[in-house]
Order: sequence, then C-alpha cells, then structure tokens
Amino acid sequence: MPLRNADWEPNREIPVGKGATLQQFFAVSGKDRFEISVAPWGEGQLKVNGEEIARTAEAKDRSQAFATLKQAAQRYARGESLDQPKKGRARLIPAVKAKLLEGKKGLVVGIANDKSIAWGCAAAFRAFGAELAVTYLNDKARKHVEPLAHALEAPIVMPLDAQVPGQMEAVFERIGKEWGSLDFVVHSIAFAPKETLQGRVIDVPLDGFLTTMHVSCWTFLRMAKLAEPLMKKGGTLFTMTYYGSRAVVRNYNVMGVAKAALESAVRYASAELGPKGIRVHAISPGPLATRAASGIPEFDKLLEKAKAKAPARSLVSIEDVGAATAFLAHDVARLITGDTIYIDGGYHVVD
Ligand SMILES: NC(=O)c1ccc[n+]([C@@H]2O[C@H](COP(=O)([O-])OP(=O)(O)OC[C@H]3O[C@@H](n4cnc5c(N)ncnc54)[C@H](O)[C@@H]3O)[C@@H](O)[C@H]2O)c1
Repeated sequence: MPLRNADWEPNREIPVGKGATLQQFFAVSGKDRFEISVAPWGEGQLKVNGEEIARTAEAKDRSQAFATLKQAAQRYARGESLDQPKKGRARLIPAVKAKLLEGKKGLVVGIANDKSIAWGCAAAFRAFGAELAVTYLNDKARKHVEPLAHALEAPIVMPLDAQVPGQMEAVFERIGKEWGSLDFVVHSIAFAPKETLQGRVIDVPLDGFLTTMHVSCWTFLRMAKLAEPLMKKGGTLFTMTYYGSRAVVRNYNVMGVAKAALESAVRYASAELGPKGIRVHAISPGPLATRAASGIPEFDKLLEKAKAKAPARSLVSIEDVGAATAFLAHDVARLITGDTIYIDGGYHVVD
C-alpha cells in the first residue's frame, strides 16, 4: 500500500517545535507501523514494526533527515529493498558536528539505566566531544551501566554508593591521578527510604530524614569540595532538583524538603566557588518517567498535569535536559551561576 506524506503524524507525547531535541513521526500502511525519529543535528532512524530498517547520520538537519527517511519508508511500502543498516543496536550517542565541549572532562554520577536523567546528560556531553567518567551504584547496577559507559567510551567507570564511606573519595582520587583536572560534575542522585518518602513530612523519623538529606543533598556539597582542587581553571557543577522544592506537590513529601536544601546549597556553593571560576547550577526538569520517579505514588497524574499546564504543552525528555545542561558547561555560559534552571516547558511560571 503506498505511503503518502499526509500519513505521517507527529508523536504528541514528546516535545515539538524547532528547538526540540528529538522528534518522532508515525505512519501506518497496511499491517505495517512506521516510525521515524529525527534529531536536529541531521541524524535519524526509520523503524517498521519496532525493527530498525534504515538510518541516516549525514543529513544537514532534521528536515533533510526526515525527507530521506520518508523516501526510504515509501520504497519499503512499495516492496522495494533497502540497504540494510549495520547490524547491532542503533547508535546511542548522537553525532554532533560541532564538538563544542572537546577537551573538557567531566564526572557523571547517577546513571542507573538508559532512562536516567544522568544518561541524557552524559550522552549530550559526549556528543559535544567531552570525555567522561561515570559511576554505578553497586554490582547489581553495574550490568545496566557498563554497556552505557562503553557507548560513552568512558575511560573511568567506578562504583559509587554515597552511603559507603570512601567510595566518593576514591572516584575523585582516580580522576586526580589520571586526568589531573576536571571541568564539570553532574550530580544526579537522590534517595529516601520508601516509608519516609510516602509518609507525611511531619511524620518523618530522624533516621529517614538524615538518610534522605545525606544522599540527596549533602553528597552534592561533598562532591563540590572534592572537585574544587581539580577545577584549577574553573568548571561547572550540576545537580538535579524538582519543582516540589518550592511548592507542595502531592506525594513528593520529604524529597521536596531535601530539594529546597539542595537549591540553597547551590546558592551558597556558587558564592563560595564563583571567585575561582566554578559555576554551580540546580537543574529542575519537569517530571520524567525514570526509576526514581516510580517510587512516587500517582506519578502518571503528575505527568498528565505537567503536559496540560506547561506553556509548551509538552513533557520534557532526558535529551532536552542533557542538551541544556551541556550548554551550561560551555564557556559561553560563564556568567550564569547559582540559580535553579527550569527545563519544564515553563510549568513553574503558570498558576
Ligand atoms: N524523574 C523526575 O521526574 C525528576 C524530576 C526532577 C528531578 N529529578 C532528579 O533527578 C535525579 C536523577 O533521578 P532520575 O529521575 O534520573 O532517576 P534514576 O533512578 O535514573 O536515577 C537516580 C540515581 O540515584 C542513584 N542513587 C540512589 N541512591 C544512591 C546512593 N546511595 N549513592 C549513589 N547513587 C545513588 C541511583 O543509583 C540512580 O542512578 C534525582 O536527583 C531526582 O530527584 C527527577
């Protein structure tokens, strides 16, 4: 059955518009479901019924990539054969021609899997040419993180559980020995024991409160301290926060308290480290369906509300968070520091 241009529908679940990081389009022809994903740097992928059948990395921009892949889809729908893409998974790291972060080295903490915000950041940093060190929580997490570390070509991959004394210090020691310097750190970790997170804030026991604050807030200050001597020529520190720090968000509970402390820690650290050229940012993404988010009851409702209320009428993706974070690590952003930067389609400004 022929496939016409008018058959393509955009995926309304992910951001649309010129600036969006990734766009997806669907079309159906007979029993086949076609899916095209395209990125602004001219890379794209065509899948039929979930199987990749064509790919492009050479287009000059998104619309050229979309046009190329639409033609491939039409040929497939007419029963013509296509050149098979190389075996193996589609490339995980986009190819960006402008290597704006080439020569920079950074540590990314918080990759659990390919849905993690930390992964979105790491992939963007790598795409722009940075070299990365990454960590995994423990042996159980290792098998999920190692293939991603491999895709990032990370020369340093180490365990880091913030609750195990010495592991964080060991990571920075190795970076000091192997690299001698560091340009950025992405802190993308948070934890609260389930009963602490899911109860009222005024019921929180001291041990649950301390664990939450330890992993979700203090670790950022500790990383800033360990990074400071390595950032001899300046650098950028990032941590991930959420809107529940400034307004009461149903079910966010004690994590909102921890994020408020974290955002304050960012302000103080920016004042203390600014004279050394070290910038400090709290990145505040809109809700994303990650593993950490699965611990928050009724998270689906939060997603629905975010999409309906945000001026952009769109949920954010980890690619959006990664690209914006990478921009802040570039020298062009050298005078931005100390703030909470929302990547939420504008949700936080609307009543
Ligand atoms: N998902 C969202 O909607 C959302 C929105 C705004 C901010 N955030 C924040 O983004 C950050 C990353 O979360 P995510 O949503 O990508 O989920 P995720 O589950 O992919 O990542 C959370 C990470 O925290 C790590 N972690 C937990 N306890 C740790 C410990 N003791 N030591 C070291 N690491 C530990 C986990 O190993 C995991 O890699 C968190 O700070 C989270 O609060 C998430």
